[in-house]
Amino acid sequence: MDLGIKGRVAIVTGGSRGIGRETARQFLEEGARVMISGRNAETLEKTRADLAKQTGGDIKCVVADMVKEADIKKLVDETVRQFGTVDILINNAGQMYSGRYAVMTDEGLKEQLETKLFGFMRAIRLVYPIMKAKKWGRIINTIGGAGKEPDPYMFGSGITNSALLNITKSLSTEFGEDGVHVNAICPGWVDTNLWQRNAQGLKAELNAKDEAEARKLAARRNALNRFGKPEELANAIVFLCSERASYITGVSLNLDGGRLKGLW
Ligand SMILES: NC(=O)c1ccc[n+]([C@@H]2O[C@H](COP(=O)([O-])OP(=O)(O)OC[C@H]3O[C@@H](n4cnc5c(N)ncnc54)[C@H](OP(=O)(O)O)[C@@H]3O)[C@@H](O)[C@H]2O)c1
Repeated sequence: MDLGIKGRVAIVTGGSRGIGRETARQFLEEGARVMISGRNAETLEKTRADLAKQTGGDIKCVVADMVKEADIKKLVDETVRQFGTVDILINNAGQMYSGRYAVMTDEGLKEQLETKLFGFMRAIRLVYPIMKAKKWGRIINTIGGAGKEPDPYMFGSGITNSALLNITKSLSTEFGEDGVHVNAICPGWVDTNLWQRNAQGLKAELNAKDEAEARKLAARRNALNRFGKPEELANAIVFLCSERASYITGVSLNLDGGRLKGLW
């Protein structure tokens, strides 16, 4: 199926690893031009070079910390300078703020809100006028299941995620008549560095004897009984940004192997 996004310009924040890296790769395979960002310059440049070699596509990178407003501006400005425009924004850079209420700190929550809530909104604020002028745009917010179904262990992430779901729906209404679609994905557990960084905490939370058992217990909540792979998330992200998704906006798609049991 031709996704119809050849030549489109996509920013993938947090494109150096995990879900973001795989999304960048699939955009390149579709013929889109891609700007990736992250904080660690070495990892970012290595990913850029690897993906360029692997796909033969046009990919560039900018070091940008999404908690810094000036860095977000630099990312968008550099994309316009090097590619001439922005058609697609994948708000993906972020951490997971795990742990129960008892261990949550104001500082931890503020950092989570700065990275995902303000980081996502600031990027949207900068790309929207560009997309509006072209009457075409795609924005995807990478959120997480705890925004829809509160999980005590994901207390901090759940707060941020609920707000991001609200922002996604609200902006999809506001931007709709400009041809700018705003959608979200809600990953469950995906096999990335992020999961590995959370493995110790999850092991304690689930009272598991080791990491392998923690993974098994966590996956058991999913209908498919396994973790997701980054490419499985990227498949859906790239589709939502395509011409084939021309009538889809304001959705938050659960990409969690059937983990959430609610009706929305
Ligand atoms: N994996 C899961 O199970 C899961 C579940 C629910 C939601 N998610 C969400 O999915 C997104 C991607 O996660 P992932 O699993 O692919 O994580 P990952 O493998 O840890 O990759 C995260 C990416 O974001 C970048 N990043 C992190 N903080 C950043 C910041 N402040 N500014 C700029 N870049 C930043 C990282 O690069 P640097 O470290 O070099 O900056 C890296 O490129 C995140 O928003 C996460 O919350 C993941």
